[in-house]
Amino acid sequence: MIRETLFQLVSDLALAIQAASAYPENHPRVQELLVRLHQRVRTESGRLKGLNIGFFSDHVVVDEYPLVEPNPTLARLIERMKEKGIEKIIVSDGITFGELKRFVYFLGDGGGSTTDQRWESIAYGSVDGARSGGGVFRGLAPPPPSSNILDGASEVLKDVLVSMVREGKRSQVEEGRDIVSSIMKGLHQEGSLIDRLMRLQCHDDYTVTHSLNVCILVVAQASHLGLPEQHIREVGLAALLHDVGKEMIPPGILQKPDRLDMEEFTEVKKHPVNGAKLLRRIDCGTDLPMIVAFEHHIKYDRSGYPKARAPEPPHTASFMTQIADVYDALRSHRPYHPAAELHRTLSIMKQGRGTEFEPRLFDRFLEIVS
Ligand SMILES: [Fe+2]
Ligand SMILES: [Fe+2]
Repeated sequence: MIRETLFQLVSDLALAIQAASAYPENHPRVQELLVRLHQRVRTESGRLKGLNIGFFSDHVVVDEYPLVEPNPTLARLIERMKEKGIEKIIVSDGITFGELKRFVYFLGDGGGSTTDQRWESIAYGSVDGARSGGGVFRGLAPPPPSSNILDGASEVLKDVLVSMVREGKRSQVEEGRDIVSSIMKGLHQEGSLIDRLMRLQCHDDYTVTHSLNVCILVVAQASHLGLPEQHIREVGLAALLHDVGKEMIPPGILQKPDRLDMEEFTEVKKHPVNGAKLLRRIDCGTDLPMIVAFEHHIKYDRSGYPKARAPEPPHTASFMTQIADVYDALRSHRPYHPAAELHRTLSIMKQGRGTEFEPRLFDRFLEIVS
């Protein structure tokens, strides 16, 4: 029974690597396999207190269980590991979905190196008992470069750029790009902020990709409104940090492939308050990130959450973030819904003009993306 479960896990690893070498990471097939693989890895590494996978010329051994069935999927996996020079992989209990996905993509890319990546829960390498006694392991390397945070942002960026270039607004494109890059540079100087995002990425890397998309869309809105550069920078930073409170949502809920039940949704609804509390303790140079984290789900007609008692309307930056937030959520593939086309996204969103979304800001947003 245990062998069978481990066999399924290794087969899923092989299938996920194959899919990762053929499809981009937001493809439904890859997502489906990665979610299933992560569930199996979490369960088995929890039960066995970590997973120890060895690759031999004609079989795989997990923990003390040899998997020797002749099987083309396993044969391809063994071949792939040989190409990578990997004879052994050790996975600790508690590996995140994001780290597992990065590792699968590393294994699937047919080359490259992970020496510049940080592995919190994975060690891998060749076993050379004669020379080193304990084997030669790589992994557990320094933190990932910040460019990892930019991965996956290209689709939304493309929406904005295509539209702006078509409208002949090259100077705005360049200004937006410079502002986003200066926000990212500023983050590096403020260690606790980049640390927050890194922790969020380890927890759930979709949220960080999403946050960067929202930041880009908010910078585009603010720049389209003609706000001064310093303000654009502030709202961009606030947008980038709007979901930091999601760090406290259990990964099982964040990465759940189905719709959430009431209890799980109640957990998710805590992230604006938790985000504001986290940001209150960090010096961002402005209160705006804390305000936007708290307000970005309140909605124009106040039908969202949390239920604010204050008579003042939410901040303009919160409304801009909320528009970008919904747009990016609809445009992205998630385990429970496929990515919507641009036209469909906009027709869904138009139904919320004046109720969910602040109408004038929404109209300006449409000028950017439609
Ligand atoms: Fe949110
Ligand atoms: Fe969000």
